[in-house]
Amino acid sequence: MQCQQSSKEGIIIETRILDAFDISKDLENIRLAAEVIKNGGLVGFPTETVYGLGANALDSKAVEKIFIAKGRPQDNPLIVHVSSLEMIEPLVLDFDDKAKALADKFWPGPLTIIMNKSEIIPDSVSAGLKTVAIRFPSNLIARELISLANVPIAAPSANLSGSPSPTTARHVIEDLSGRIDVILNSSACEVGLESTVISLAGETPRLLRPGYITPKELESVLGKIEIDKAVFQSISNDTVVNAPGMKYKHYSPKALVKVVKGSFEEYKAFVEGRKEEGIAALCFSGEGKKLSVPFVEFGNEEKSEQQAVMLFDALRRLDEIGAKIVYARCPSAEGVGLAVTNRLFKAAGFEVIEL
Ligand code: TXA
Ligand code: MG
Repeated sequence: MQCQQSSKEGIIIETRILDAFDISKDLENIRLAAEVIKNGGLVGFPTETVYGLGANALDSKAVEKIFIAKGRPQDNPLIVHVSSLEMIEPLVLDFDDKAKALADKFWPGPLTIIMNKSEIIPDSVSAGLKTVAIRFPSNLIARELISLANVPIAAPSANLSGSPSPTTARHVIEDLSGRIDVILNSSACEVGLESTVISLAGETPRLLRPGYITPKELESVLGKIEIDKAVFQSISNDTVVNAPGMKYKHYSPKALVKVVKGSFEEYKAFVEGRKEEGIAALCFSGEGKKLSVPFVEFGNEEKSEQQAVMLFDALRRLDEIGAKIVYARCPSAEGVGLAVTNRLFKAAGFEVIEL
């Protein structure tokens, strides 16, 4: 066990960093983390999408600590994580046929379903909305943590508000050590982007956030779905939106990011013709060595799943190399690529240069 303290402004508490790679070997550590959750504390833990920052979802005091630790706006509701379908019934009013069909096909896994909430969900979790977001993750460490805590766990991504979501334990340690009680040190996340969020609270199912589960896969269960306009365009901060989180410019590195549409040859000529200080390229694997500017790569051009795994780490690395302005290659928006494109476009404030 290691301990870390933070000298960052505001919160200074001792953060225990506990290995959790293997359920049986590391069971005592997961049990300890579950005790922390039961006692109203905060735990950073792995999921298959990104690392989460968890608290007992039924304890509003504990949930409030999440917002403070992350510096998260209070009007952005949290996802409630469960480790069995039985845990869901008391949390929602309508675990209906559509929700059950989605659960049957995609849970446990990287899908979040919005339903009308029951009374036991505190306002701090739902940010005053009448709905609650529910997810049953597939990651075994996450599931063990939830079942040992024996309460639903409210968890946003375990990053400081405004920085890219964490896909490794190291990212969580960088952002949150000294601000939370425990970080479970586990493997890198297999998906690398946050869960697909679908709302079943309205007339027609509505995709609020694209992810690893694609619109096509959702439509194979639900029939026609709507895609919220926040997926494709920037939403101003004072707008009332269906997915409050979509209006914030998450994921951004400190550098200004612009997406560039065109062939690699056009992109190379464009980037190398720029004169700005601190310029960097965010490009596909194998392209960097052909460029004369500093670069970070985010996966094979043809492989959206690989881009999903690499994108958030790449955004953090751009900060590490001191990039001030980043020109990013534009990924394909097919399949999982819709989620990759959405996160990159958000990082760029939806600013796209067409060559
Ligand atoms: O993969 C994930 O979903 C990760 C892991 C930890 O499970 N969690 C995550 O949480 O990404 P967060 O808080 O970073 O994103 C939750 C998103 C936000 O955009 C939020 O606005 C939306 O879900 N959301 C939560 N509850 C909602 C509700 N009742 N209605 C509409 N949107 C909701
Ligand atoms: Mg987040």
